[in-house]
Amino acid sequence: MPSRACPRNRLGRVTDGTLSPVDPPVRLRPEIVALPAYRQGKPASSSAFKLSSNENPFAPLPAVLAALEDERDINRYPDATALALREKLAAKYRVSADEVHIGAGSVALLAQLLLAAAGPGDEVVYSWRSFEAYPSLVTVTGATGVQVPNRADGGHDLPAIAANIGDRTRAVIVCSPNNPTGSIVTADEFETFMAAVPDDLLVILDEAYAEFVTDAGAVDGTLLLSRYPNLVVLRTFSKAYGLAGLRVGYALGRVAILDAARATAIPLSVTGPGATAAIASLDHEAELLDRVRQIAERRDRLWEDLVAHGWQIPRPQGNFIWLPTGPETSDVAARLADAGLVVRPFPADGIRLSIGEEEAVQKLLQMSEEIVGSLPEGNPARRLG
Ligand SMILES: Cc1ncc(COP(=O)(O)O)c(C=O)c1O
Repeated sequence: MPSRACPRNRLGRVTDGTLSPVDPPVRLRPEIVALPAYRQGKPASSSAFKLSSNENPFAPLPAVLAALEDERDINRYPDATALALREKLAAKYRVSADEVHIGAGSVALLAQLLLAAAGPGDEVVYSWRSFEAYPSLVTVTGATGVQVPNRADGGHDLPAIAANIGDRTRAVIVCSPNNPTGSIVTADEFETFMAAVPDDLLVILDEAYAEFVTDAGAVDGTLLLSRYPNLVVLRTFSKAYGLAGLRVGYALGRVAILDAARATAIPLSVTGPGATAAIASLDHEAELLDRVRQIAERRDRLWEDLVAHGWQIPRPQGNFIWLPTGPETSDVAARLADAGLVVRPFPADGIRLSIGEEEAVQKLLQMSEEIVGSLPEGNPARRLG
């Protein structure tokens, strides 16, 4: 074949003969090549606590494991739409089964919805800092992300988000409780926001941590679906239900929006064992929600003790807390790691720490007064006076 008149990529060989990851041998979308790979929470050694991925510290329920034992037909493809699970969720939320869409984790549903709504030349608006997958999911669609800074207390600045919506905006993502700050959007704030945005604009309310919320004023998107046809609510079995390893999330919303998401989905991504475990979890929901209550109590006690030690941190409503350690973030994360607490640092910004085992909470509390006392004055995590 004659060579085409275009810049050619060099085959990126490095001295040991392997291919350089920065120099692909074929033409790829530059904005995709430039994306950082998804950064998973650091693994922990057997003597350390993994508090870096907001996982559920409880072991799976015996009844869920028993249901998985019966999942033997793995030589067959799963039911592509996970109908039995959709019907169960539809009954729970009093919607039709077609108003429920299951994905391999809620992050997959987010990707589908963004692909359905936004493309090159469009914009997607969201608060920042928030879930670290948002920027790359938006970039993959070809659209441009518009990041609106969080309020000083870690919450969404919904009036500023509304002010950033323009002719090119095709979707808005609202995250409550927000990962990583733990702050909620209140029902009043959300309804004021919905009244201010165009009613043909897709609003995705990411409620991955909804079950941990104890603040009665927090928004609950599942109660608002009938009022707002442009709203899609995302929930997951990964956090409160402890099924992160099986990848099951769900979207609730109008059929026409979910059908568009279904059209962008990679078929058959939700596995039979995943759907079975989710159904078994719903059958044993009371037991799981009792664990959620224990985690929320542990979180609230930890927050109160940290505040008493001199920390200034947002009131957490998910299964994690946020230490806004600013420039000292990497140092503090290293000190925690030395003590066996593997956390999620966002350098120069802060540390997200999952509410794990009680022993991990105690370890943190043993060091917290000393750490906060060593932060320089003016560090955002240190309470004044
Ligand atoms: C805010 C938020 N949304 C969505 C997800 C994705 O969860 P999953 O894909 O496991 O359902 C996460 C996971 O950490 C999250 O923090």
